Parts: sequence; structure tokens; C-alpha cells
Amino acid sequence: MDYLPIFLEVAGKRVIVDGGTTVAARRVERALNAGALVEVFDPDPGEEVRRFLGHERLTHHARVPVEADFDGCLVAYGASEEAERDTLLHRAAKAAGALVNVADEKSYCDFITPSVVEREPITIAISTGGAAPVIARILRARMEAMLPAAYGRLALFLAKFRGRIYEAVPNGRNRRRFWENLIEGPVGDAFLAGEEGLAEERLHEDLARGSADLRHGEVWLVGAGPGDPDLLTFKALRMMQHADVVLYDRLVGDGIIDLVRRDAERIFVGKKPNAHTMTQREITDLMIERAQRGERVLRLKGGDPFIFGRGGEELEDVAAHGIPVEVVPGITAAAGCGAAAGIPLTHRDHAQSCVFITAHGAGGVLDHDWTRYARKGQTVVVYMGLNALGEVTKRALTQGVEPDMPVAVIDNGTRLDQRVILGRLDDIEAKVAEAELPGPALIVIGHVVTLYGALGVKGSRPEHQMELKAGHAL
Ligand SMILES: C[S@@+](CC[C@H](N)C(=O)[O-])C[C@H]1O[C@@H](n2cnc3c(N)ncnc32)[C@H](O)[C@@H]1O
Repeated sequence: MDYLPIFLEVAGKRVIVDGGTTVAARRVERALNAGALVEVFDPDPGEEVRRFLGHERLTHHARVPVEADFDGCLVAYGASEEAERDTLLHRAAKAAGALVNVADEKSYCDFITPSVVEREPITIAISTGGAAPVIARILRARMEAMLPAAYGRLALFLAKFRGRIYEAVPNGRNRRRFWENLIEGPVGDAFLAGEEGLAEERLHEDLARGSADLRHGEVWLVGAGPGDPDLLTFKALRMMQHADVVLYDRLVGDGIIDLVRRDAERIFVGKKPNAHTMTQREITDLMIERAQRGERVLRLKGGDPFIFGRGGEELEDVAAHGIPVEVVPGITAAAGCGAAAGIPLTHRDHAQSCVFITAHGAGGVLDHDWTRYARKGQTVVVYMGLNALGEVTKRALTQGVEPDMPVAVIDNGTRLDQRVILGRLDDIEAKVAEAELPGPALIVIGHVVTLYGALGVKGSRPEHQMELKAGHAL
């Protein structure tokens, strides 16, 4: 972050705008909206600036400013689009100790002006640090469409009860939760539906209950998907915004962790193959301990928590302590990797069933009956199989599975560094060893692999499709 985001109080303070351009008009408007005493300097301002002449807090000087004009000025905007005027304004305003912003002249700027979404009294300011202002404008347009105008009125309505809420819920953490429940619960719903009377009635009921309902902790087991933050569910995102503490492991990418509420505690619990930062027992104990303290504990897991995520085991212990639990599904690696690589897991011409298996069990590489899994008309998706790929293929071949069975290994599926290695049962191990994949990786076995590159999916490269067709009789 190159700039410090702050909101400046300018009510009753002097703000100078030099210029009569459209940019000047925007600066005048924003400063007036914030309650400033605005002085505009320009011999002949344009129509947009003239619209504000006559405003009780605006003074127009039909000339360019001189040094003495900047005495006692808090903010000075240069918007004349004349280099000489900009230079004078910058020098004089700095000498007077004002904060300066000159349009399109970065070296003359103490601050930049953000794109703003206003829902009085809520103001959202968006900045790209000057890198790509168009992105800020696009985001602003999206937020304008997303935020009901009534949010501003909801803020004003709730502000009337601030003091009483403070008294009813003295504890800081509980009070934050109380506010969240108000805004996202029945009170906020009633207000946004236009029923202010009902909202007030419900708010009084909540005030009467105070913090009685807020002292209990909970555990939320949430799936974060295979890595691409855009694949999070809305519900996962909402819970990430409300949790007090988040326990996450290696499969949850940085881009996702960045979306957790800023002041929530984040605990990395590790879990690399053969290098566990915390044992499963320690993780479960920590969740229980935090929930018993009254915290909302978010256990964030890669993919889906109930598919090879040990979610069930963790919850058994939590439930035994009578702690309320909620589970939010995530996109499992098989679905995410299949989509991102352009390999459908089922297809009427290739596979009418699909099984998800893990290469590893509690005691090491599992001894699956491969003739049941790797057979015509069925796709097999193998989780946690990268390090055991040699063992897996050897066992399958020994049990009589066709050596030319198509196999794809998808590494870091859905992420920017996704790679797909294609082969057949009898050569995939060597190809993967050569590629030195870092993992996590998923193994897809079956005829659907021949569709890789054929469906026009980005991330699915057609040249591999050609290789596959040329090299293998399928
Ligand atoms: C402990 S399992 C967790 C699976 C997770 N609960 C799910 O539903 O995807 C970890 C395995 O999932 C697979 N995996 C998870 N994310 C992946 C990704 N982005 N790309 C490829 N494989 C992935 C790998 O096989 C990895 O070894």
C-alpha cells in the first residue's frame, strides 16, 4: 500500500480550488458535501463550476490565487490545467502548510483523490494507488449497483441506539457480534424491507436480551475450494468476515486468507505431507478451547471439508463437547481441477460413473482393488497420490489394469501456476518425476482424459490433446 487511507475532517475549514474546469467542479462539490468553506479561483469558470456559485459556503474570486490567499488553508486543489498556475499553487500552498493535490501532476500531490461511493453517512473510498484509476472507477460502479441506498438510512437509524447498545452489551467482542446480528439479522432485514416500525420493535427485543445469546462459542467448518479465491462461496466469505479466530492449513491459499476479517486472529496449523505443524489432536483441542471461551472459530479447509478433509473426525470431538457446529461446503479439488483443466469427470461417451479415492490412509499407501476402480466407463480421481504415484501405478498394473489407460496429473489446479501432465498408466510416473511437480496434485485416470484440450477450456492445451492422440491407441 503506497498511501495511507484516512478521512479528513474539513467542516468549517478553508479549502481552495484553483480552476474553473470539470475537475475543479468535482473538487468543489466534494469539499462542499464535506462541510468545507470553499474558495474557488478562476477569472472565467465553466458552467459546471458556476452551478455552485451562490452556495453559502462558497466564495468565488474572479482571478488566479496569490500567495497570501493560502494562509490558513487546509487543502488546496490545483485544477486549472495550466502549468504555471499549478506551480504557483503548489509552492504557495506548501509554504502555508496546506495539503496539496494538483490534477494529473503526481509530483505536486500530497494525497490522491479516491473513487467514492456515498450512502450517507457511509462513505466508501476506493484507490488503486494511482496504478489503474479505471479499475477504481469500475469497482465503484459495481458497488453502486450492489449496495442498496437504504444502507445509509440503516446506519442513521442504528446510530440512534448506539448509547443503549453500549450499555446493554458492555463487552467489546460481544458488542461487535451484537451489531453484526442487528445488521444482518431480522432488524436489518425489516429495515431494508421498508418496515422501520418492525425493525425498531425487534431491536428493543434484542436490547432486552443483551449479551445473553452472544456468550456461546461456535465452530464453523468451512470449505475454501481448491485455491482460486473466486471459487469461494458467498457463505464462506461471510463467515470469514465474522469469525474471531481462523485456523487454516497449507491448502488454503494466501489470496483466500487475505479475505478474512482484518482483526480476526489467524492461526496456521500447517499440515504438509510428513511435516505437520500441529497434530490433529492439537488442532481439535484448540478449536474446542477457543469455542469454550465464547469465540467463533472458523476452521478453514482446502476444497470441501467432508471430502478427504478429516472434517468428520474433527467434528466428532467438537460435538462431544456440546459446541454448536456449522459446515459450509466448498468446491472439492476434483470438481475444481476437472473444470480448470477442461477434463469433464463424466461424459456419456466416456464415463458413466466417477469415484474419488485417496491414495493414503492412516497407515500409508492404501491397497485398493484397482480392477474395481480403473475400468471402462468409469473415471477414478485419486487424492493425495503425488508422492505415491509409482506405488499406485505399479499396483494397478499388477492387478491387470490396461497399461495404456489415460492418466492426467493436475498440479495446483485452478491456481495461476496450474500444470497438467498427461500420460498413460505405464509412463505417467516417469513424466511426473521429470516435471518435478510441487503439489498439491490430483490424479485423474480414465478415458475422459482424452478430452483434455478438446473442449476449448482455457488452461487445457490443445497440443497435449494431439500428443495424446498420436501417442496412444485409446
Ligand atoms: C487432504 S486432501 C484435501 C482435499 C480437499 N478436502 C478437497 O475437497 O479438495 C489434499 C489433496 O487434495 C488434492 N488437492 C487439493 N487442492 C488441490 C489443487 N488445487 N490442485 C490439485 N490437487 C489438489 C491433492 O490431491 C491433495 O493431496
